[in-house]
Amino acid sequence: MSVANNKPTRVAWLHGPAARCETVPKGQFLPWRVILLGAPGVGKGTQADLLDQRLLACHLSTGDVFRAAATRSDDEQTPAMKEALAYMRRGELVPDSTVWDMVRERGECLHCAGGFILDGFPRTLAQAVSLKQFLDKDELGLTAVVSYELPASQIVARLGGRRTCEKCKAVYHITERPSKVEGGCDRCDGKLFLREDDRPESIKVRLEAYERSTAPLIEFYAKAGLLVQVSAAGTPEEIYDRTLPELETRRLSLFAERMWVVEENRRDT
Ligand code: AP5
Repeated sequence: MSVANNKPTRVAWLHGPAARCETVPKGQFLPWRVILLGAPGVGKGTQADLLDQRLLACHLSTGDVFRAAATRSDDEQTPAMKEALAYMRRGELVPDSTVWDMVRERGECLHCAGGFILDGFPRTLAQAVSLKQFLDKDELGLTAVVSYELPASQIVARLGGRRTCEKCKAVYHITERPSKVEGGCDRCDGKLFLREDDRPESIKVRLEAYERSTAPLIEFYAKAGLLVQVSAAGTPEEIYDRTLPELETRRLSLFAERMWVVEENRRDT
């Protein structure tokens, strides 16, 4: 994975395993493996962007993979991808089988020595079960699942003002987080665009899909003892400051558990 400004560029994730990352981050003892849950527009991508600089784990967003595919020519898009993009434009969820095929194809990213921050996946119980089986098979334990919470009226305001960089995918907001030059990205020379699914008719469909299909994951991960609930009110920095200590506390207890097992094994030999 090549790193610019200390940020992984996510090449293998965005473009598939044929486009391999140039360098792999240094392996960590207990790499961060985090899932971000929350309604569309709550700020998951913004938080992932802040967290990956600190945790040095790769920000893996399924929405970004679909948007990267949308920029390819018609000939380069598979029928499954064309179908997925049509669902996305309407604000509907892409079918589980298409999403899981795409994630499984990028399974190496879930094994990455630097860990991962999953954003937008899993989004249904079926996806969560597939992911669990995949991770359990190779003993890739999750650090935590963060659920961001915010009233719907604030979420709609965040989505309506969002602008995204076509090149590096950096996210801005026309009033809350404007770029320095209107319409241009501060990090690269990319142009900012309004996502097709940020139009009012798609926003409504997305919020309904979240309530119906994704909100039940909160209970799924609470039962697994992995859930951390964080208010998404306030500035991105305030939300980050609430998130990081929660994650560090969880990792510390995982670290203590792991050391206890090591010590037990040492005594037994
Ligand atoms: P995806 O790209 O995952 O979109 P999403 O989950 O709908 O989430 P968003 O990216 O819209 O919002 P966010 O929470 O990341 O908020 P952000 O940080 O950008 O998915 C898109 C589509 O792809 C889906 O609808 C579906 O069709 C398909 N898809 C993807 N994964 C799928 C899956 N697993 N299964 C099935 N289908 C799938 O912030 C939003 C705005 O608010 C920005 O402008 C930001 O600058 C601003 N902002 C952020 N934080 C704050 C703050 N604290 N204060 C003020 N403004 C803020």
